[in-house]
Amino acid sequence: MAIQFLAAERLFKLDTPNTTYIIGVVDDEGYLGHVYYGAKITEGCGLGYLLRTGEAPFVPSKNQREKSSFLDFFPTEYPTGGIGDYRASALEVRNEDGFTACQLQYKSYEILEGKDGIDGLPATFGANDIAQTLRIYCVDPVLQLEVVLQYGVFEDVDVITRNVIIRNKGTKALYLEKVLSACVDMDMENYEMLTLHGSWARERHIQRNKLVRGRQAVGSFRGESGHQEHPFFALVTPETTQEQGQVYAMHFIYSGNFIAQAEVNQFESVRMEMGIHPQGFCWKLNSEEVFSSPEVVLTYSNSGLDQMTNTFHDLYRNHLIRSPYLHKERPILINNWEATYFDFNSEKLLAIAKEAKKVGIEMLVMDDGWFGKRSSDDSSLGDWQVNEEKLQGGLHKLVREVKDIGLKFGIWFEPEMISPDSDLYRAHPDWAIAIPGRVATQSRSQFVLDLSRPEVIEYTYEQVAKILRSVAVDYVKWDMNRQLCDLGSVSLEADRMGELSHRYVLGVYQLQERLVTEFPDLLLENCSGGGARFDPGMLYYSPQIWCSDDTDAIERLQIQEGTALIYPLSTMGAHVSDCPNHSVGRVTPFKTRGDVALAGTFGYELDITRIPEADRAMISEQTAQYHKYHGLIREGTYYRISSWRSNGFYDCYMVVGKDQKEALVTYVQVLGQANVHTRKIKLKGLDPDADYVLEGTNQIYKGEWLMTAGFLVDKLWGDFKSMLYHFVQ
Ligand code: DGJ
Repeated sequence: MAIQFLAAERLFKLDTPNTTYIIGVVDDEGYLGHVYYGAKITEGCGLGYLLRTGEAPFVPSKNQREKSSFLDFFPTEYPTGGIGDYRASALEVRNEDGFTACQLQYKSYEILEGKDGIDGLPATFGANDIAQTLRIYCVDPVLQLEVVLQYGVFEDVDVITRNVIIRNKGTKALYLEKVLSACVDMDMENYEMLTLHGSWARERHIQRNKLVRGRQAVGSFRGESGHQEHPFFALVTPETTQEQGQVYAMHFIYSGNFIAQAEVNQFESVRMEMGIHPQGFCWKLNSEEVFSSPEVVLTYSNSGLDQMTNTFHDLYRNHLIRSPYLHKERPILINNWEATYFDFNSEKLLAIAKEAKKVGIEMLVMDDGWFGKRSSDDSSLGDWQVNEEKLQGGLHKLVREVKDIGLKFGIWFEPEMISPDSDLYRAHPDWAIAIPGRVATQSRSQFVLDLSRPEVIEYTYEQVAKILRSVAVDYVKWDMNRQLCDLGSVSLEADRMGELSHRYVLGVYQLQERLVTEFPDLLLENCSGGGARFDPGMLYYSPQIWCSDDTDAIERLQIQEGTALIYPLSTMGAHVSDCPNHSVGRVTPFKTRGDVALAGTFGYELDITRIPEADRAMISEQTAQYHKYHGLIREGTYYRISSWRSNGFYDCYMVVGKDQKEALVTYVQVLGQANVHTRKIKLKGLDPDADYVLEGTNQIYKGEWLMTAGFLVDKLWGDFKSMLYHFVQ
């Protein structure tokens, strides 16, 4: 039983394999309080004493006091604004008369078998034998508002999910001005806050800072999760490393505006919150209408970051990604973006395809520039008709010729966008998100389509679908190259304008849901100017996401380290590109580029007809290597051994099969050093009693030796050198 209600103590106890989460109901007033989250409590559950209603300031019913000091002190399960809790709220509601306070009282609960999705939103799911759902019903009798706190509890992974479902039970409209999905009030334990920050071509770098009094937040109001900050954060105790320390983490299954915030208050408690960013958000809820918030994933680890990482990886592989490709080898692709940019035609693409076929590449992906009159990034988005000057004879002919060569075929779209210089814009200027009377901001010379409008969604879907219906496309790269601003929609009423950003995200989800339903065999890869929409929301639709436009092997080490901290390696789009690298000008060995890209979905992003012969010759080895290791990399357990960002010289990670029969260690010497001894690394996750042979040698190692005493890596000569070590039982 993952979820229990202990009636005598009025406690809800939620158990995962190694963690327990407890919520308490305070008798008379029906306050709902957070009691405990941490390592599993196996013996009984008399933890109600932790609720601190017995120490000053006492619960109001007990002492007839005014309640503000109580509310500002109490560890609240889901805090509301305007009633005396001065910490950051999770819910703010305004009624038609302009009043803003909201106070929730516990009413009832239900426990359901299984864990369902959320209508219109991506969410985790679990069958009846592996997951349960708790719904706690609360009401504000003055507003006639019902708030259901929903918890998903998994029995195979240490995860609790949270979201809220809000129903207007009154007769007049209410305005939701802030709806966060999760809040956890805990005692402060000298925590540090771990986040992922970045920029275009520099996504998801790990950042860790001491948590101080006050509010510390990361967030986005860019209309997407963004390159800059990530809808993830963890509070970790100071001694936390990969292997030890306490970690409380939250990750948001959502692809739009978000806030992830920790607030340390006057009483040394810390409030962790996550949800849709309240800036600019306001959702009108008419009588009997319902608003469901997106889902937050919560996890706790008392043995460091490796455990947190593997919890997220297992959750996403087993309970979020639905694609039929999840457990399949993905075709090794060659994408023409860095090879040609906009300057290509059928002839060039076919020349690339022919060379690619010879060395084991399996799919050609035609990137941006095949439609309208697009020969640079300043036109034609929205005009999804093939440019026959480039593709002589049309798309059918090209696809047939690529398939005759023996490759699959993939195509790029940026469906959410509209160029001011496009037939679509000339016909429907009001389809772009903009504020009437104000010159809208262009970014990459484009506007964003108003996906809050059903007719725009319909048109957009048909543009993509008609092409996929007419030719045998195996793969779609769905790109999105600008963020939202000038938030105006001519079709929304004034008091619904604050819904635009969320409605936009719902529109994107609707489009992708339709796409994967109509084309179930399609391999979909999401992308947003590199990795600006690499989030769990998009993973619900596509099993892989392009990680970054920065394909330099050394830059990728940090980007992929931060990404793999929470995402399975099978989701990370990673390709080998040409040198000098187009983003940083660095020259790295072709082998290193291949070894680093192997940690992801693997492919090439170069003009294979023009690269040095020695590099081309190595591709056959790399494609064979991919086939050999991809099962292990896709399904195995990932461990971070050491990080270049902290040691300054080398990067090392490994993947161990779930059955511990084999392991692959990737070692990259970023900078060579003079006069140093061979480096010793300690492996993880092996069977301590098993014997492992290092492939290519006769040397046998006990798992215990490799993990406890370590392994000496080869002495490498030069910068940017890499080694793969494959250990097999
Ligand atoms: C951004 C993507 O990340 C690139 O890979 C490429 O597809 C360009 N957009 C095309 O405009």
